[in-house]
Amino acid sequence: MTVINGEAVLHDTVLRVDGLCVELDTPENGWTRIVDDVSLSVRRGETVGLVGESGSGKTVTSLAIMRLLPRNARIFGSTVINGRDLNTLSEKGVDEVRGAEIAMIFQEARRSLNPAFQVGDQVAEAVRRHRRCSRKDAWARAVDLFDRVGIPEPAKRVHAYPHEFSGGMCQRVMLAMALSCDPDVLIADEPTTALDVTVQRQVLGLIHELQQELGLGVLLITHDLSVVAEVCDRAAVMYAGRIVENAPILDLFDNPRHPYTAGLLHAMPDPVRHAVKMGVIPGRVPPPHEFVDACRFAPRCPYVGDVCTDGLIPLSHSGPDHLVRCARAHELSLEDVFYD
Ligand SMILES: Nc1ncnc2c1ncn2[C@@H]1O[C@H](COP(=O)(O)OP(=O)(O)O)[C@@H](O)[C@H]1O
Ligand code: SF4
Ligand SMILES: [Mg+2]
Repeated sequence: MTVINGEAVLHDTVLRVDGLCVELDTPENGWTRIVDDVSLSVRRGETVGLVGESGSGKTVTSLAIMRLLPRNARIFGSTVINGRDLNTLSEKGVDEVRGAEIAMIFQEARRSLNPAFQVGDQVAEAVRRHRRCSRKDAWARAVDLFDRVGIPEPAKRVHAYPHEFSGGMCQRVMLAMALSCDPDVLIADEPTTALDVTVQRQVLGLIHELQQELGLGVLLITHDLSVVAEVCDRAAVMYAGRIVENAPILDLFDNPRHPYTAGLLHAMPDPVRHAVKMGVIPGRVPPPHEFVDACRFAPRCPYVGDVCTDGLIPLSHSGPDHLVRCARAHELSLEDVFYD
């Protein structure tokens, strides 16, 4: 174990993001910070959730990790994959890591596939981008990968076109493509959001199975805490561009220390009390040009006090492996919230 910035870094850490900031140059507001000081790590064989409402900066974070941001973006901080900092590499160097060590799947799997080509052809192309092999061998590998991700009759289905596949099957093709390079890290950005509940379960189950079998580190991005509860080992909660809480999953669900996390938990569907109105957090995530240094959740927080609007609130330990960004975390009891 090594200690960096006071935090223990385990040697099986496959992805470590440290102080990641993303700024975008927008016509309306000029350079605007969208992602602010995000740090998290993923170990081999671990699934880490990145969770928060829409607009909190999850997708921009994942694109920054992959270095897939548009031209009007600048990045600060580091993204270390297997010990190499992507933010110090040339475009060519990043290209080699991306695909070989880290891969990503998105929400709209069908839109990521080319409608004009057979799905097997697209997976075979991905195989050939990362390893020298004949077209025939690449197709054989595509059939293997289809089998691996649970597509029935793989030798026949590789010849299908995207429109002949359901949303769940398209997501499996994307997974096959992501796995084609044997990555160590998989980033999945809302991979099941567009799918119905049964297919969602199947795809999550598949990601979990592959992660266990291949020892992948998975960063699972979602707005849905029930998805996090199902498959994650730990989760980082994001609000208005910042991580506000980061803890092992049982600790986070049993003992949330940030009022925002407690509010999200309170808003989760409860199968026992489903007839009872669920709590909602009033208000909305502020747009990035309205971000302040002090607590960004303050306008929505029932516990807001003077100490909350007084300046930057650091992410600090509320337990040995539990981080929280709240000026009142040590004094609040968040068992029975409140947002009704
Ligand atoms: N290309 C862009 N130009 C300007 N603003 C953007 C761009 N992409 C995202 N944003 C803004 O960044 C914020 C975070 O977006 P996003 O990362 O997509 O959130 P999430 O994935 O959590 O829903 C939002 O306010 C969004 O409007
Ligand atoms: S710092 Fe204050 S306003 Fe912000 S979440 Fe904590 S109690 Fe609420
Ligand atoms: Mg998103």
